[in-house]
Amino acid sequence: MARIFITGSTEGLGRAAALALIAEGHEVVLHARSRQRAAAVADIVGQSGGIVTGDLASAVETRAVADGVNRIGPMDAVIHNAGIYLEAHRGNTPEGHATTLAVTALAPYMLTGLIERPKRVIYLSGGMHRGGSGSLRDIDWVTRTWQASQAYSESKLYVATLACALARHWPDVLSHSVDPGWVPTRMGGPSAPDDLEMGHLTQTWLATSTDPAAISTGHYWHHRRRQQPAAEVVDPGFQDRLIDRLAELTGVALF
Ligand SMILES: NC(=O)c1ccc[n+]([C@@H]2O[C@H](COP(=O)([O-])OP(=O)(O)OC[C@H]3O[C@@H](n4cnc5c(N)ncnc54)[C@H](OP(=O)(O)O)[C@@H]3O)[C@@H](O)[C@H]2O)c1
Repeated sequence: MARIFITGSTEGLGRAAALALIAEGHEVVLHARSRQRAAAVADIVGQSGGIVTGDLASAVETRAVADGVNRIGPMDAVIHNAGIYLEAHRGNTPEGHATTLAVTALAPYMLTGLIERPKRVIYLSGGMHRGGSGSLRDIDWVTRTWQASQAYSESKLYVATLACALARHWPDVLSHSVDPGWVPTRMGGPSAPDDLEMGHLTQTWLATSTDPAAISTGHYWHHRRRQQPAAEVVDPGFQDRLIDRLAELTGVALF
């Protein structure tokens, strides 16, 4: 049985993944943005391996999340699931970053560097990553006019790229990204057309399965099938430039 940490496990796909993994007998470490939001998993916390709290919009709290996970012990797998979608404004996190970038890309990057290295990592990306821009000139939206959908697409491009970069730099870790489909969670909305069940079953499978396909590394998945991601994702030059930029913005060096 594996020990798995899932960010954003209070809702939607993160909570569904936690429930599925607990039902299979795995030890799941839950995550909520605050003590108040931890109430959303009060029904399963007793069957879990514990809960860590912290708002991923804050670099200080993200570091505390990593410390909390490390105190529980080494993880077999980490599922970087937490994310936000269409923010009306750029926002301004305590460190001055765009909120979408901070929660959906900087936090998974920081946690990757600060959590004791697990055997497997999975990042929730999505089909919209294909609309992300390969230009890294203003990834924090300092000079550009805010476009919520573009910012989300870019953050999903960055985490898919991060997964591939890790596969190249950390050969001892299985690293993947997943497109869960457009599914009817709070984020996806009630009219989302894809299969909600399949929305979490790829990441739980990648986190725990010994199926030869699941113990590969460096791939982008949809419904347990490998897909070709955007060209930037598999471009080593783009990967390294992105990692350098994320390191500058967070102060966390990965490689
Ligand atoms: N649903 C889709 O159609 C779809 C499609 C493609 C990709 N995805 C990706 O799949 C992942 C899960 O999405 P979902 O549909 O399950 O979304 P969701 O239902 O809105 O759940 C998002 C989770 O992330 C947490 N979260 C958000 N901001 C946070 C913050 N600042 N600090 C800590 N936790 C935070 C939320 O906590 P709270 O409950 O406290 O807000 C919640 O647990 C996301 O990365 C999303 O981009 C979803």
